[in-house]
Amino acid sequence: MPERPFIIVAIDGGAASGKSSTSRTLSERLHLLHVDTGSFYRAITAELLRRGLSPADLPAVQAAVATLPFGTRVEGRSARMEIGGRVAGDEIRSREVNEHVSHFAAIPAVRTALLAYQRGQAAVARQHQFKGLVMEGRDIGSVIFPDADFRFFLQADPVERARRRASEGQHDSISERDRLDSSRKTSPLTIPAGATAIDSTHLTLEQVVDRLVAQIEGRASRV
Ligand code: C5P
Repeated sequence: MPERPFIIVAIDGGAASGKSSTSRTLSERLHLLHVDTGSFYRAITAELLRRGLSPADLPAVQAAVATLPFGTRVEGRSARMEIGGRVAGDEIRSREVNEHVSHFAAIPAVRTALLAYQRGQAAVARQHQFKGLVMEGRDIGSVIFPDADFRFFLQADPVERARRRASEGQHDSISERDRLDSSRKTSPLTIPAGATAIDSTHLTLEQVVDRLVAQIEGRASRV
């Protein structure tokens, strides 16, 4: 059987829609690099808060993000963002970061600072001999990789999403983040053209991943 070409899989969706567990499991099944872009926005938010900045301090935020020294560390199958050589820890899941991240993520300079970095993850995946890349976020299929080989959009009932977050012991304003992420001017959360939408409310993780794999392997075998 011929070797499958390097593939890019984009998975978008709202907060707690199941993107992370789906992407992580898919990365294991198909030997892809897993890139969680939400963790990038969270790491930047934690760093800006550490510097005492608020999303309202636009010029200061713009100046800071333009010079943040980003790097990437591959741990297992995951790409971790380094800022100044340091990978952020659990603080990126704190209540403070949950409350601020969508406000910082709506600032065009923050998104611009991350654009090339996110696209550069394809080179990281190739360097580490992965068979491709699965990137999760809000604008992956629409803005970061509009030519991705496969685009998926995950959805789930709001009650189920709140239950999932609570079971992780997290205080998270899911609906407020979705409202801010969907209504911002730059790269809003949206179902990308041509994406396959999957409602995971009544599906197990395995069932969701099986659907993705079926589509990826089905198309790959027809190439
Ligand atoms: O995926 P997660 O919920 O961890 O993302 C945290 C926040 O980062 C989102 O609510 C959103 O504001 C921002 N984000 C984004 N674009 C992405 C990924 C995340 O704006 N591609």
